[in-house]
Amino acid sequence: MSASPEKPMLTGSRPDGALPAHVAIIMDGNGRWAARRGLPRFEGHRRGMEALRATVRTAGDLGIRYLTIYGFSAENWSRPAAEVAELMSLLRHFVRRDLAELHRNNVRVRIIGTREGLAPDVVGLLAEAESLTRNNTALTLVVAFNYGGRQEIVRAARSLAAEVAAGRLTLDAIDSDALSRHLDTAEIPDPDLVIRTSGEQRLSNFLLWQAAYAEFVFTPVLWPDFDRQAFEEALAEFQRRERRFGGLSSATG
Ligand code: IPE
Ligand code: IPE
Ligand code: MG
Repeated sequence: MSASPEKPMLTGSRPDGALPAHVAIIMDGNGRWAARRGLPRFEGHRRGMEALRATVRTAGDLGIRYLTIYGFSAENWSRPAAEVAELMSLLRHFVRRDLAELHRNNVRVRIIGTREGLAPDVVGLLAEAESLTRNNTALTLVVAFNYGGRQEIVRAARSLAAEVAAGRLTLDAIDSDALSRHLDTAEIPDPDLVIRTSGEQRLSNFLLWQAAYAEFVFTPVLWPDFDRQAFEEALAEFQRRERRFGGLSSATG
């Protein structure tokens, strides 16, 4: 990609050249970043946290409305206990250190995923982050933590079934809007752009339902190296895409 840091935003060729309203990021490659330097994996996660701070700032500067970040997957529990503990500590650290600044910057924090299995103090911090920032109106930062797309869809299906069983909902009323409203992301628009760093090209159980018509950008950059330029290049790539949503191209149609 050739976008320069000075003029990356509007050099794309999409007719409206609009920025995505909602960007979702699979922050991957912390371990490999550390391994390449002969450092412990934890150091990669720590540096990844710095990249996250910078990315939230950039998203805010650019006026992106929603930024969702994949912080810990439902499957990440299968890592060694020591690494899981480090990831939990980093989350604690992030909330304690950054919440005040996020709030000052008018950022609204939303958490998706389940609180089940998390330590009580982590659950408390997540609740505090959401409640302190709930009326903020700039960027919405959606943190996917202890999150799995399939698990989220199962929870939504259960809660719909419970409403039917209780006689509050008819079977006919179950449609895709109803299911969307029962997901953790209720009221959050679907992502327009999903970015995955580190060269892996898979979803790893991230936003399975919501990403139905998202554009995907895969970059080889490892997450700790993901800087403003890498972010702007991904956005410029998005701007060059033509989204058709099953319809016809504006050029041929
Ligand atoms: C992403 O980096 C962070 C989390 C999954 C929490 P990884 O830890 O997956 O790094 P790699 O993929 O091993 O390089
Ligand atoms: C996805 O990365 C989860 C997060 C970024 C939090 P993983 O590194 O866990 O994904 P896989 O195992 O390579 O698919
Ligand atoms: Mg990984």
